[in-house]
Amino acid sequence: MAQSKHEFIERSVGWMIVLTLLVVSIGGLVEIVPLFFQKSTTTPVEGLKPYDPLRLAGRDVYVREGCYNCHSQMIRPFRAETERYGHYSVAGEYVYDRPFQWGSKRTGPDLARVGGRYSDQWHRVHLRNPRDVVPESNMPAFTWLDRPVKSDDIEKKMAVLRTLGAPYTDEEIAGAKAALQDKTELDAVIAYLQGLGTTLKNVK
Ligand code: HEC
Repeated sequence: MAQSKHEFIERSVGWMIVLTLLVVSIGGLVEIVPLFFQKSTTTPVEGLKPYDPLRLAGRDVYVREGCYNCHSQMIRPFRAETERYGHYSVAGEYVYDRPFQWGSKRTGPDLARVGGRYSDQWHRVHLRNPRDVVPESNMPAFTWLDRPVKSDDIEKKMAVLRTLGAPYTDEEIAGAKAALQDKTELDAVIAYLQGLGTTLKNVK
């Protein structure tokens, strides 16, 4: 009996692997490639600005300290979430986030719209020792952030982000180091937190 094409593929491992990869890649590309061109995922929401130097440096502290291990930055479009955190997250809020800090674990609350919820002073106390303001908190104390924020590579970082689409001007990049002068890591991470989610905050 002549071997059917189907049988041939199922019996030869090499062809099976090659053809499986081919089909899976086509399926993947069809799902992923349109997202690069869809306006709703590539256009910043109105009023969104790229991170200023202090917030950008604060974002690096956030990443270095692993805050994303306990905090997500992604409000899902469900009533329980929007009642607690505010307007659900939309793709256009994240176009200058490289990489995004969506996270997937919520040991602590979502931080996508924490900007403006507390005063800078509250954050200062909370980050140094969370138990001073939230007695039942199990968030670690970040006692070492009271040191100068790293500024030697800030201009380079902004220049690289500009090549990826962040609309920084030459003056903004040139003034970046000065903006970080006399600032601590604590100042930077608080500036970062206070900006989170504020662009879309008042939309209902
Ligand atoms: C081990 C898990 C863990 C890590 C790591 C962690 N947090 Fe938290 N965080 C929590 C928990 C739990 C809470 C809720 C209790 C509280 O407010 O302290 C919280 C609360 C917060 C809040 C208040 C949010 C709100 O809406 O009330 C902020 C802001 C915050 N964390 C920022 C940070 C930052 C910035 C970092 C990194 C420097 C960080 N957290 C690291 C667990 C964590």
